[in-house]
Amino acid sequence: MLAFSNSYKNNGAIVINRKINLIIMLEFSAQELSKFMEMHRNIAEYINLNPIQRGGILPDSVKEIVLEWVDGYSICDHCEGVLSEIKDPPIETFIAEILPKFLEIDEVRLTNGAREGIFAILHSVCKPGNSIIIDKNSHYSVFLAAERVGLNVIEVENNGYPEYKILEDQYAEKIEEIKNKSGSYPELAVVTYPDGNYGNFPDAKKIAEICHEYEIPVLVNAAYAIGRMPISARKLKADFIVGSGHKSMASTGPIGILGINDEWKDVIFRKSWRYKNKEVEFLGCGPRGLAVVTLMASFPHVLERVKKWKNEVEKARYFVKEMENIPTVKQLGVKPTSHDLNFFETPIFYEISKKHKRGRFFLYRELKKRGIIGIKPGLTKNFKLSTYLLTKDEINRVLEAFQEIASLH
Ligand SMILES: Cc1ncc(COP(=O)(O)O)c(C=O)c1O
Repeated sequence: MLAFSNSYKNNGAIVINRKINLIIMLEFSAQELSKFMEMHRNIAEYINLNPIQRGGILPDSVKEIVLEWVDGYSICDHCEGVLSEIKDPPIETFIAEILPKFLEIDEVRLTNGAREGIFAILHSVCKPGNSIIIDKNSHYSVFLAAERVGLNVIEVENNGYPEYKILEDQYAEKIEEIKNKSGSYPELAVVTYPDGNYGNFPDAKKIAEICHEYEIPVLVNAAYAIGRMPISARKLKADFIVGSGHKSMASTGPIGILGINDEWKDVIFRKSWRYKNKEVEFLGCGPRGLAVVTLMASFPHVLERVKKWKNEVEKARYFVKEMENIPTVKQLGVKPTSHDLNFFETPIFYEISKKHKRGRFFLYRELKKRGIIGIKPGLTKNFKLSTYLLTKDEINRVLEAFQEIASLH
């Protein structure tokens, strides 16, 4: 209980300790609060094409146990001080055995997302003022992670419209360029595999081989790959790899996974001088609640779906082919697509938007009327979408919707 010895009530505000002028508003109208009590998502009956959502949907069996784990630090009841060593729920086995085998990498930690894994690597491996090389198709959070550490970012170009294919050989050129300008080699290279705009897969192994010739370690950002398709860090020759639980591993967020090679263990998993069992880079513990449980509980389902990746690529190719039968519609990115996330240029919808009474919001409205969401409101010239885990019937429903809307032309 707060002791309000030095406080008084004033118009709904309780003023405590006038000397430091600390005002705490404790009274809110029921109307103000009701909006927080009545939040519903209302999307169950829609097909959601948003690429960031499709891989994060929990299987029904996992949704059934979620309520048991929603309270605060739900996984911490059996913790003896190190989150990655909790035996019940079986986090230790998951982190020490299952995930390393799944990714073919030596060591794994949980993070609060792919970006937090990326930040952890940048922050441990580099010092402010160092340079890193990243591909032009990198996610914005890679730039922000670099900015937070104080790094110079040098980009490897893509070949531009319409493929936006990363020019792998440029990694060598950029490395030499940095060495010539600054006198030292970059500390790290990052490869996005695949990127979140076009679903392009650069040749990550080739990039790693180039970088390793200069003894530069490589971080593979596989946020859109791990949990969707088979991934082997060893085959890609990655020193570090990150994945995203909420994006691609059928998990609630925020959660990510970070895999590292043994030789980097002492750098990335360094312990606090004061709290001897706590890893500094993860502030002692990684994610510590519901998301850990959903990531683990969904894993058997993830394992199964990864085996069916080929099928997802075939569905995506079918979808692209049919979409391109709509006049002017064109898939951008490398062809044929190798991912469920695809980017379309759609001049026909832009033309309609110029005359439609709802303007550029017409496409979002027309799709919603037909039970489809996930294309950003206001986009008509181009957009990205994902067909991941949609049934053939659902894919055909989406195609029919686009075809019908195009006929409004
Ligand atoms: C390629 C790529 N990397 C990283 C991220 C960030 O993932 P997270 O939310 O797990 O940090 C995204 C998110 O869209 C992405 O598309």
